[in-house]
Amino acid sequence: METPFRLMLWLSLLMCSTSPFALAIHHYKRWPVGGSTRFYDFKVQTMEVKKLCKSTSIVTINGIYPGPVLYAQEGDRVIVKVTNESPYNASIHWHGVRQRLSCWSDGPAYITQCPIQPGQTFTYEFTLYQQKGTLFYHAHISWLRATLHGAIVIYPKTGVHYPFPNPYEEHIIILGEWWSMNPIQLEQSTLASGGAAPPAEAFVINGHPGPLYNCSENDVYSIDAVSGKTYLLRLVNTALNTGHFFSIASHKLTVVEADGEYTKPFTVDHLMLGPGQTANVLVKADQSMDKYQIAMGPYVTAKNLTFQNITSIAHFRYTRADLTSMARPATLPFYNNSLVVNANMDALRSLEVTNLPLQIDENFFFTIGLNVGQCNRQNPNLTCQGPNGGIFAASMNNISFTRPNVSLLQAYYNSLHGIYTADFPGLPMKMYDFVNGAPNNSPNDTNAMFGTRVKVLEYGAKVQLILQDTGTVTTESHPMHLHGYSFYVVGYGFGNYDQNTAKFNLVDPPLMNTINVPVGGWAAIRFIADNPGVWFMHCHIEVHLSWGLSMVFIVKNGDGPLESLPHPPSTFRAAEISLVKYLNI
Ligand code: C2O
Repeated sequence: METPFRLMLWLSLLMCSTSPFALAIHHYKRWPVGGSTRFYDFKVQTMEVKKLCKSTSIVTINGIYPGPVLYAQEGDRVIVKVTNESPYNASIHWHGVRQRLSCWSDGPAYITQCPIQPGQTFTYEFTLYQQKGTLFYHAHISWLRATLHGAIVIYPKTGVHYPFPNPYEEHIIILGEWWSMNPIQLEQSTLASGGAAPPAEAFVINGHPGPLYNCSENDVYSIDAVSGKTYLLRLVNTALNTGHFFSIASHKLTVVEADGEYTKPFTVDHLMLGPGQTANVLVKADQSMDKYQIAMGPYVTAKNLTFQNITSIAHFRYTRADLTSMARPATLPFYNNSLVVNANMDALRSLEVTNLPLQIDENFFFTIGLNVGQCNRQNPNLTCQGPNGGIFAASMNNISFTRPNVSLLQAYYNSLHGIYTADFPGLPMKMYDFVNGAPNNSPNDTNAMFGTRVKVLEYGAKVQLILQDTGTVTTESHPMHLHGYSFYVVGYGFGNYDQNTAKFNLVDPPLMNTINVPVGGWAAIRFIADNPGVWFMHCHIEVHLSWGLSMVFIVKNGDGPLESLPHPPSTFRAAEISLVKYLNI
């Protein structure tokens, strides 16, 4: 007979705890409310894997490679408790999650948080506000994301359908690169050499290199297909340093989503994804009962770059096909075929456009590209492996980003001085023929300046940003990624940007988080700076990030409700106290 009493007690507890919130929420926009809470327990662990006949120790989540899938629905609150059981510093970024008012959980080490040290725990918390589709998470420190990555699948809200017929089945396809060397050592040795990153040992589809590599005949991923059915493939390019073409022999790919946003459907034979890009494609099993190759191969635009050129193969096999038969061969475009990439881009259109700024407040122009610095080794017998005996660097507006030792977000939030400067230039400091000429023809004068410079934006600023590739060392297609926002890609083209001839699409441009700026060309993006915080922008080619191809936007708080970055979560307070002690302030 205690039940009614208990029920009343619970009710009163619930009311007591919710009523102030319910009152307060009256004054706010109706966000964030609704949605369920998903809790994930992620343990960063090392594990032994055998690939290509070599045993390798890799860093993964919960002993699974690629990592476990994070499933959620639009509007859900996601809490991920990350415990670092590995011997390396770690941090995890939720790539494409816009982290509305939750910059503290964004994850890039030294930008929004200190690394999670071995033995430590960090809890990420964010709301999937107006987000759906395929995204992914990855380590955001050194080159650990080589193996520490996994898909994020966000289903529409209950009762909401896909804007295309429901597929018979869904599969996640993660495109990756494989090294048997520890990725932290790989980064260190690359930086120490001054030269390019060594090519991947293999490309992998869901962790499997496929039959074309030595000692890998049976390490093949495969999808079983029922004749006549339609499959939704959630493609993710997690590769460190290379864009990738994707195709399936004899089958068409109908793209319905890119970077977690619906697109007008379009059908292609080949799709290219830059590192950091995701796409959902529909594939109809409408061919004869047989086994077909799924192929992944590199898209490389830099000159004089040594790269892996063996295709990774998986299988798309019809049930009741003869499984002993050879798979029908898939074709891939030639490794530097930018026409295919451009055709993909031309076809990419938003299904719906909601808040595209037509007027702009800030009009920025950032060059992106590689530089050469002088080799000034103490030991004269050592040589540098970069162009002309120098060392590689990379920059935006010729500023090569220097990673700070403390988190920029904490420095900004606590008004610490001396960690960064707010003078990142909105325009190049020198005007020249960016694509065809270097600032100076002498190889020794392709140096960049170094610094931790940020660009501060007022809350709500409507930003247009032209990203211009340079040919200072080599032109190259850079996959530029912005944290905290998706942006509309309103224009792109080859050559130097010219506002008199550039064509813009202000009707149905795609909304993306990573744009492959065309090789020797430019891209124009627009976004509204309505998410306060410290947001990294960088090339998603990992070696370029190490060389400094990045910058940071600081977006100030607004005055209205839900326009300010909340206080840091409790995990941060402890860190802050120790930071304050450390800096003696
Ligand atoms: Cu997926 Cu800062 O990157």
